[in-house]
Amino acid sequence: MINNFGSVSAKNFKILHGGDYNPDQWLHMPEVLTEDLRLMKLAGCNVMSVGIFAWAALEPGDGEYSFGWMDSTLDRLHENGVFTILATPTGARPAWMAQKYPEVLRVGPNRQRNLFGRRHNHCYTSPEYRRKVAAINKRLAERYGSHPGVLLWHLSNEYGGECHCELCQEAFRGWLKERYSDDLDDLNRRWWGEFWSHSYSDWSQIQSPAPHGEEAVHAHNLDWRRFVTDQTVDFMRAEIAPLKAINPGLGVTTNLMGTYYTLNYWKFAPYLDVVSWDSYPSWHGSGEIANRRGNWDSQGRDWRLAADIAFAHDINRSLKSGKPFMLMESTPSMTNWQDVSKKKRPGMHALSSLQAVAHGSDSVQYFQWRKSRGSSEKFHGAVVDHVGHENTRVFGDVRDVGEMLSKLDGVVGTGIEARAAVIFDWENRWAMDDAQGPRNTGGSTYERVCKDHYYQLWRRGIAADIIDMDVDLSGYSLLIAPMLYMIREGVGERIAEFVAKGGTLVATYWSGIVDENDLCFLGGFPGPLREVLGIWSEEIDALYPGETNCVVPEPGNSLGLVTDYEARELCDLIHVEGAAVLATYGSDFYKGRPALTANGFGKGNAYYIASRNSESFLDAMYGSICEKIHLTGPFVSQPPEGVSVTCRQDEENEFIFLMNFKPESQLVSIGAGELVDLLSGEKFGGEVDLGPYGVAVLKRR
Ligand code: GLA
Ligand code: ZN
Repeated sequence: MINNFGSVSAKNFKILHGGDYNPDQWLHMPEVLTEDLRLMKLAGCNVMSVGIFAWAALEPGDGEYSFGWMDSTLDRLHENGVFTILATPTGARPAWMAQKYPEVLRVGPNRQRNLFGRRHNHCYTSPEYRRKVAAINKRLAERYGSHPGVLLWHLSNEYGGECHCELCQEAFRGWLKERYSDDLDDLNRRWWGEFWSHSYSDWSQIQSPAPHGEEAVHAHNLDWRRFVTDQTVDFMRAEIAPLKAINPGLGVTTNLMGTYYTLNYWKFAPYLDVVSWDSYPSWHGSGEIANRRGNWDSQGRDWRLAADIAFAHDINRSLKSGKPFMLMESTPSMTNWQDVSKKKRPGMHALSSLQAVAHGSDSVQYFQWRKSRGSSEKFHGAVVDHVGHENTRVFGDVRDVGEMLSKLDGVVGTGIEARAAVIFDWENRWAMDDAQGPRNTGGSTYERVCKDHYYQLWRRGIAADIIDMDVDLSGYSLLIAPMLYMIREGVGERIAEFVAKGGTLVATYWSGIVDENDLCFLGGFPGPLREVLGIWSEEIDALYPGETNCVVPEPGNSLGLVTDYEARELCDLIHVEGAAVLATYGSDFYKGRPALTANGFGKGNAYYIASRNSESFLDAMYGSICEKIHLTGPFVSQPPEGVSVTCRQDEENEFIFLMNFKPESQLVSIGAGELVDLLSGEKFGGEVDLGPYGVAVLKRR
């Protein structure tokens, strides 16, 4: 199996291993560049991402290009068996550009233009910026687009942020005109403009949301977020055009950021040949210090964090319908931006690297190859430390990973067959967070709730795709759609069809509330899901922090639930309209009213969980549902707590990854028959003894 990452010429059949490489920072020390090549081979690296943030070195003055250093970098890497993932340099721009064309700089929501500085500080609309981007990208493509060592384009870096300049305001209005077919009355109706006299009489009155201006119109906020995604995608496509014009066969990727809040990655995926992402978990956390970028809630339990990371890996795999993705960045040791930069404990580097592969990545890459000597990331982990040689613990860890990956050639290009899917939808998330009520403080985010449901599959070794609500559902047997507050046009019908044809749906409280313009469904919640779920939600109660109700199973209920479970945060007060009641509330004025229902619909079943319940509830419920529909992991018995099992496969082989995210040894039973661990070469029968943070990759025909 060969993974060419969308390129026409198949260049690679190994798991990629490497990192961000910045020779432009070391041109004045050529001996360092020579040493790099020796060290790369020693570390088992076969790829480097080059040129990210190198614009000033490539174009030191307007229209003055300097490619000599890049020529020799690419040639030397290639001669030494290292592929290049070549970046477009647009993630940061030279000072001369900001000085000469101030419009390239971003304007904040307060309408103030930024000064030159930092990175990612540019307007995605600016014609000047786009002109300069097209010019440099064209030159890079002409010069390197057919270089034998270049494997893939790396577009910019971590697209993100938004700009509120006049050019962007005009683009936003243009975007709205298109969305509402030039009909301002239609926009006013859908934005519910009569409320507080916020209707518009001319398009020119419309502005982006601002802290000192309009912030109260939900549909307006939502459309702005949609526009920001679309404008960023449009910019990305403008980056791609000159590259593909010269060599359409060379693939493109851009490094995404997991569940990054403000960009809907589903809109990016169609234009990428391969999806890649940057993963920076805070392993061994204390539980008190949250990861600033993520939404981790692991309470210091590595295996819970591992499940959260798995969720993000699975998004990346799902974005291209199961095609392998790439782990574009991770740290070989620690970051320098987390509140506490704790070292990975022995074993964790290999384990977390292989976890990406276990979920469908065909690469393990790092930020960064070599620590920079100065500036803001000089203490960020790297393969090569300031000491400059290979005799460091971290270099050893990286070399070990290189060796492990070299034993997994067979895994390259294989997929994961998921019969379950969890809907995690960006627009739904934006709309729900903006909604104001029924609970505006504390509590679980939408992301957390989705991950809590996902965890129940993860811990059972059951593969799941993480999808948005527009993905084709026909291949799944279990669809989990927590808090599907927004339901876009046609989605309710598609979900009903999925169940009618034999699928199992799990839905929860606070679903089917608004349409895609954030207008409430009239005539009864959960709107388009009412029939398939066989219930009507009349109202929803919000509980104070610490307040609880309980869920009491009905005797003989179809899921075999017996004990009471705690309910908190939100309790939906529903009426059954055909659904069977499996459990009721235990207290308060709604004691005895339905808390869990099941509705037979066509050939399938639709479950409705009316309240946010304890983890033990989810465990019991999913345990029972998975048994009913014969959903298991690659081995019949459930792995012990903290162990994750995944399976990559092709027509011939299965590669079963066993990963122990606990710092103590654990036994995993693998049933009858002997299987070989590709990493250690050891044969196992009956059970596998995984050491602390241990990992094995078993091959099964
Ligand atoms: C991001 C960026 C990198 C680097 C790392 C540090 O992922 O893409 O350039 O700043 O963070 O963790
Ligand atoms: Zn702008």
